[in-house]
Amino acid sequence: MKVIRSLEEWRDLRRTLEGSVGFIPTMGALHDGHTSLLQASVDHDDVTVMSIYVNPTQFNDPKDLANYPDTIDADLEVARDMGVDFVILPVYDEIYADGYRFSVDENRFSRELCGANRPGHFTGVLTVVMKLLNIVRPDRAYFGKKDYQQYVLIRDMVETFFMDVEIVGCETVRERDGLAMSSRNKLLDREGRLLATCFNRALALDASDAEISSRLEDLGFDVDYIESRGPRRFGAVVVACGDRTVRLIDNVEIKQVDEEVGEVA
Ligand code: PAF
Repeated sequence: MKVIRSLEEWRDLRRTLEGSVGFIPTMGALHDGHTSLLQASVDHDDVTVMSIYVNPTQFNDPKDLANYPDTIDADLEVARDMGVDFVILPVYDEIYADGYRFSVDENRFSRELCGANRPGHFTGVLTVVMKLLNIVRPDRAYFGKKDYQQYVLIRDMVETFFMDVEIVGCETVRERDGLAMSSRNKLLDREGRLLATCFNRALALDASDAEISSRLEDLGFDVDYIESRGPRRFGAVVVACGDRTVRLIDNVEIKQVDEEVGEVA
């Protein structure tokens, strides 16, 4: 496995690669959700590339960025064990050489659900993903459906801008008690982790969004939103853990897809 720290080095290398290239962009703090994406690429592509870059433009809360877990040595070991061929570790000055003068803005779905209370979040995500896709030039890029809104926005961006890459959505990987795997789970204390178990179970209940929301509030969550869209129910909650808060998101399929229920976005 080769670790690449400069984009120039990567570009030279990219020209020499043969066969299909699979790409998994990450912000590190790898967990089994990420390894399932890496495995999908290792199984389908001739070459697997992963990036680790904690993208500051998608954090609207500086505390969230400061608290984001950094486990680079362990991440590189996971990537090596999974059979990743290249890990790219870009730096801000290369990714944002323009000083974030240019961005990719979606003006409808990105303002809803997770975007409603996180202004600029999806603009940061779409901008960095477009940059990374243009740098890596993969045949396929893999994203987890735990971040379903992100997956849909990236899929639609690629279609809108005629980008020559297949976006593959992979199923959410869960802990044994149902909690969706997330890098932020590492920030939960014992009590917060116990409470977090109730989140996914509540989303799947046969009850209205409002009923689920008030049940979660009663349990001690601070609810950002609970909202059903088409065949899915989406939710975001905040768990208080000592002097910090941890934001969790998830979504579950609640109905069969049919014409009446329609699309999510
Ligand atoms: O899902 C993530 O980890 C990030 O949003 C991504 C896609 C790597 C962009 O920074």
